[in-house]
Amino acid sequence: MENKKVYIETLGCQMNKSDAERMYGMLEHIGYTQTENPKEADMLIINTCSIRQLSEDKAYSQIGVWGKWKGMTVNENGTRVYNPYPKIVFAGCVAQQAGEKLFRRAPYVDLVLGTQRLYELPNLVKRIENGERIVSVDEKPFEESDIQINRVKGINAWVPIMEGCNNFCTYCIVPYTRGRERSRKPELIMAEIKKALSEGFKEITLLGQNVDSYGKGVNETQNGFEISDTKEYGKDLAGNTINLSWLLRQINALEGKFRIRFVTNYPTDITDEVIDTVIELDKVCEYFHIPMQSGDDYVLKKMNRRYDYATYKKICDHIRSRIPDVTITSDFIAGFPGETEEQFENTLKAMTELELDYSNTAAYSPRERTVAAKWVDKYIPEDVKTDRLARLNEHNRACCLISNKKYLGREMEVLVENYEVRKNGDKVITGRTRNNKIVHIPCDRDLTGEFVNVRITNARTWYLNGELI
Ligand code: SAH
Ligand code: SF4
Ligand code: F3S
Repeated sequence: MENKKVYIETLGCQMNKSDAERMYGMLEHIGYTQTENPKEADMLIINTCSIRQLSEDKAYSQIGVWGKWKGMTVNENGTRVYNPYPKIVFAGCVAQQAGEKLFRRAPYVDLVLGTQRLYELPNLVKRIENGERIVSVDEKPFEESDIQINRVKGINAWVPIMEGCNNFCTYCIVPYTRGRERSRKPELIMAEIKKALSEGFKEITLLGQNVDSYGKGVNETQNGFEISDTKEYGKDLAGNTINLSWLLRQINALEGKFRIRFVTNYPTDITDEVIDTVIELDKVCEYFHIPMQSGDDYVLKKMNRRYDYATYKKICDHIRSRIPDVTITSDFIAGFPGETEEQFENTLKAMTELELDYSNTAAYSPRERTVAAKWVDKYIPEDVKTDRLARLNEHNRACCLISNKKYLGREMEVLVENYEVRKNGDKVITGRTRNNKIVHIPCDRDLTGEFVNVRITNARTWYLNGELI
């Protein structure tokens, strides 16, 4: 088969990065090789994100550039005929929503591929190669068959375990772009993890919009498991309940030294069983990402989050009391419609009071179809949002430094991810502790992929310094 080249641009979250690894894997099977140079590609794919307006805008401006590269001629009737190559694929979360509309906006695009049709890619590529233009954004997921992944080389392997969201927070577009919650079959997940470990990956990060929902909708059938929409928890053949803890136990039982992580947790869905599992299982790391979004009860209600500040605090305190040195990180939105200065200050207070180790922050961005986007008269002016975001970030920096200082003088295990010789000649390895702290360590050998013991010598805002012991 003729050797064709594909270039993929990925915006957005780890789920999109993981999807890109799967696209490369599937395309390799039908004769494509990966290129880092978009200019030499026969096919250009953009994996889009619509969480905020800015990320959506980036996607449209990128395909605009690609459209120009493709070029066109105007025929006798005055209609534009685009050159057949490079093929342009618009995939991911913006594609899922845009569907047909995208063809009108960007007539040079050959394929619009929704998030739930990822595994249909090889079939669709063959068709666009024959000159078809296709929109595939059906919300019925296209079943995955073989595991074909071309992972980014490194230490950590992303493994999606569930996709979609049923929570409908009023600001968030994800339920519309990723569809309803669905769990992946345990045997597919396990096979994928075994393969990643055999390829030398040392860390497995389980991915899902709400990992606590894993197992909901996995039902027993004669063939093992199937994906369905029921709210029932599935059972395995021995009658065990299939949930996140069950999955963690299966993975932990695999041979070899490696680490296991999982993201993201919904605060009130974290069970005691999961906390017990993290404590019991040696490979599962002491790290939780639990987005709080706001520290104010009224705002939380308007966001349709199912907890108030006191409940979130209880969950946080409970996890901290049971798991020493646990890292808890969060997400916050500044300037949600109607947020008063006082309500915003409750978020700042919450960050400090809970000693959150790190937080992702963003200014509220209205998203099409979401409930909060309709509250136009309650929108917070841009300059106020920008100011609140800056204060949120300042607070976050202070919290990170406090968190990092707790580890001064401590001995910690670091999994090395990188080795570099800096411009000034310093040789440094960088890695992470079990609780996800980044540590820089002077070392004259590349120890990437190894576990080393380190004493922490200095705490900075974003990382720690350490020395080998
Ligand atoms: N499932 C996760 C979050 C996924 S989206 C959870 O429930 O927390 C990642 C983050 O993007 C969210 O936590 C939120 O902080 C942010 N986000 C989502 N929609 C947003 C919007 N419209 N404007 C600004 N930030 C948003
Ligand atoms: Fe979005 Fe809320 Fe679902 Fe998270 S839980 S993906 S914030 S709707
Ligand atoms: Fe963006 Fe979709 Fe992820 S909207 S954050 S790429 S789930």
